[in-house]
Amino acid sequence: MTEATNDGPDLSTTAGKLADLKARYHEAVTASGQAAIEKQHAKGKMTARERIEGLLDPGSFVELDEFVRHRTHAFGMESKRPYGDAVVTGTGTIHGRQVAVYSQDFTIFGGSLGEVAGEKIIKVMELALKIGVPIIGILDSGGARIQEGVVALGKYGEIFRRNTAASGVIPQISIIMGPAAGGAVYSPALTDFVIMVDKSSHMFVTGPDVIKTVTGEEVGFEELGGALTHNTVSGVAHYLASDEDDALDYARTLVSFLPDNNMADPVVYESEIELEITDEDRRLNTVIPDSPNQPYDMRTVIEGLVDHADFLEVQPLYAPNIVIGFARIEGRSVGIIANQPSQMAGTLNIAAGEKASRFVRFCDAFSIPILTLVDVPGYLPGTDQEWTGVIRRGAKLLYAYAEATVPLVTVITRKAYGGAYIVMGSKQLGADINLAWPTAEIAVMGGQGAVNILYRAEIKRAEEAGEDVAAVRTQLANEYTYNVASPFLAAERGELDGVIEPAATRVAIAKALRTLRTKRASLPPKKHGNIPL
Ligand code: HXC
Repeated sequence: MTEATNDGPDLSTTAGKLADLKARYHEAVTASGQAAIEKQHAKGKMTARERIEGLLDPGSFVELDEFVRHRTHAFGMESKRPYGDAVVTGTGTIHGRQVAVYSQDFTIFGGSLGEVAGEKIIKVMELALKIGVPIIGILDSGGARIQEGVVALGKYGEIFRRNTAASGVIPQISIIMGPAAGGAVYSPALTDFVIMVDKSSHMFVTGPDVIKTVTGEEVGFEELGGALTHNTVSGVAHYLASDEDDALDYARTLVSFLPDNNMADPVVYESEIELEITDEDRRLNTVIPDSPNQPYDMRTVIEGLVDHADFLEVQPLYAPNIVIGFARIEGRSVGIIANQPSQMAGTLNIAAGEKASRFVRFCDAFSIPILTLVDVPGYLPGTDQEWTGVIRRGAKLLYAYAEATVPLVTVITRKAYGGAYIVMGSKQLGADINLAWPTAEIAVMGGQGAVNILYRAEIKRAEEAGEDVAAVRTQLANEYTYNVASPFLAAERGELDGVIEPAATRVAIAKALRTLRTKRASLPPKKHGNIPL
């Protein structure tokens, strides 16, 4: 460690002081030592500094607090006081826009969070809030520094408070690139997006050993809290990166869709769109199959509507029956929420509702207009859904849409039944422009279900008369769909603003969003609402 000793530079001269600074800086950026760096690389992991370099525009990183050192004396800690402690913090740019970043350094005390590492993170979070830029945390840590006890725990509490204060004010992204264990997982959980790296990142509140001791259950790290588990089962993570480069690329792309903060102007990329119907647009006219039960991939529709067919899907592996993500229309970010008929027929369940509601709230907080594409046969029926709270948890999506004041444009491509019709960005919940394709079916329930109730006597009569009951049922169901579920009925009542050809949808949405750019809406003053949690 560089101290002002007789062996060092002559500190009575300016040249000596500059040499001392250089030596100390070199010591700070190489604090972990070659052996620890090699150990990190051997696990397929980059160092904290390499990750920052990969995340930010080249040469843009400005470090903070590289000379910070811990003040702990317990457990012989005073003999090892590396500069910078176990986290690298600072600011830089992504695609030329400012962001703040912290990157935990596993090569120093296992990236653990003690008093000063906590202070460094809190300082850069506060800076991000003050200047209104996204904060990106790269996590690779053994958690609270065991030697520092309650002081370390307290710093987590302070970080959680900053995460909460920053929520809805600046975008917060967490990239998990190693362990995140115990209460430490709750900082990423409070942020907007969690990116995990396949096989090398793990998140859990209690680890396999504790689980085995307490419950007798045997489970490995990967199955318990690996990236695949959190992307597919728990919904904690929003992207499963194949490696660290992929994780950093995803974060860079994600930032490109987000404003700097909740008061900032939207990011506008140069884009000129064709305002006439193109051959590409006409392909949408053949997307909806003739059979109402045949699935199609809603992503094809999304790609046909947005600039350069460029769609950044968020949480693609969790609740795939609903698709969420970002795209641009006329160079401006939009959040897209769409039922996915190719998964569980596009039904809504608890997982899909929660996934979509958090996304609606993110977009609303950051003034990103929302495009909703609807093809939903209803809620997934079953005791599992009812007993795990589809009423309470399903209400979140209603709440999120009803509370949203950003421009809301909704297009019904096919089915829109029952409560699911209302929740998916209906006019009555506050959507601004509601359109439907002629293939839309909007009703309390599907034709088959309605026939069972409305035409019970008719079907009984057909049975008794020995008629082909299935044929009678189908004919009645078709009549119901044609007469009652027709989009023109909804259009007649003004619940739709128009019924349009699929090919005309891209231009119609672009024009709707232009119209809504000056939208002003507000809610009654309140401390905060009480969303059903
Ligand atoms: C201090 C720690 C540490 C910690 C790791 N290290 N975790 N030092 N506090 N929490 C040190 C190790 O002593 C070791 O130092 C170095 O980091 C690398 O650790 P290894 O164990 O050699 O690495 P590996 O085998 O990869 O295992 C990583 C690990 C394991 C799975 C994270 O280290 C581990 O289980 N650590 C403890 C995890 C934990 O229980 N943390 C508390 C969680 S509760 P040397 O000097 O040998 O290189 C929590 C509460 C937060 O965080 C509360 C918020 C409200």
